[in-house]
Amino acid sequence: MAQGLIYPTRAKRWQSVIVHVLGLIPLLVLGINLARGMYWVNPVQAAIQRSGDAAVLFLLASLTCTPLTWKRDWAWIGRWRRPLGLFAFGYALLHVSLYAGVDYGLNWAWLSAEFGEKPYLWFGAGAFLILFLMALSSPRWIQRRLGKTWKHLHRWVYLGALLALVHLGLVVKGDPLQLRGDIWKPLLIGVGMGVVLGARLLRGVIRKLQ
Ligand code: HEM
Repeated sequence: MAQGLIYPTRAKRWQSVIVHVLGLIPLLVLGINLARGMYWVNPVQAAIQRSGDAAVLFLLASLTCTPLTWKRDWAWIGRWRRPLGLFAFGYALLHVSLYAGVDYGLNWAWLSAEFGEKPYLWFGAGAFLILFLMALSSPRWIQRRLGKTWKHLHRWVYLGALLALVHLGLVVKGDPLQLRGDIWKPLLIGVGMGVVLGARLLRGVIRKLQ
């Protein structure tokens, strides 16, 4: 009995350690690579790209938790959703800070000129705004207070994921729709998001029909 009570707590603690170690790996790799001068040609651009990659990957990982919890005995995976989502926001914040703060020195005139020239920045900004709102409303007391509204609100994360995907698709030098150029990243992320979103939609339809 006592063991039964101790085990879940210990398992939870280990899971939490694993998620946090996983979450910090991209930052560690980025730091090591920067220190070793691997990105000597343009370290700021490389850091913007790597943090953007990490943000989109953690976002996908967080979204993937939901369909996995539908499998019997896999409900525990639901606990990973929140920390993974927060890591996605953390890397997006780093990405945006490096771009606006380090690359453009918070020069609003230059930044607004960039936004005028590059439509992909608007998609990134939309995705970032949604991730920001998700992170802001992620504390458990807010979740408890908002009840069902919180669940509805957090469905916006799917729109955030789609905007991030379009942002990535427009950034790469290639055409993901015509399968030309350097498109493997948006293609892989797009397939992953398609599977997760498709599974959610399908489940919603099946539940309505039952
Ligand atoms: C205001 C918000 C944002 C701005 C201004 C922004 C800006 C940029 C810029 C300038 C690049 C091109 C870097 C280069 O190749 O020189 C980029 C690429 C990228 N961004 Fe963003 N971004 C924003 C939000 C986001 C968000 C929210 C995500 C993910 C959730 C994201 C993910 C990515 C990815 C994956 C890339 C491609 C990296 C690569 O080439 O490997 N961005 N972004």
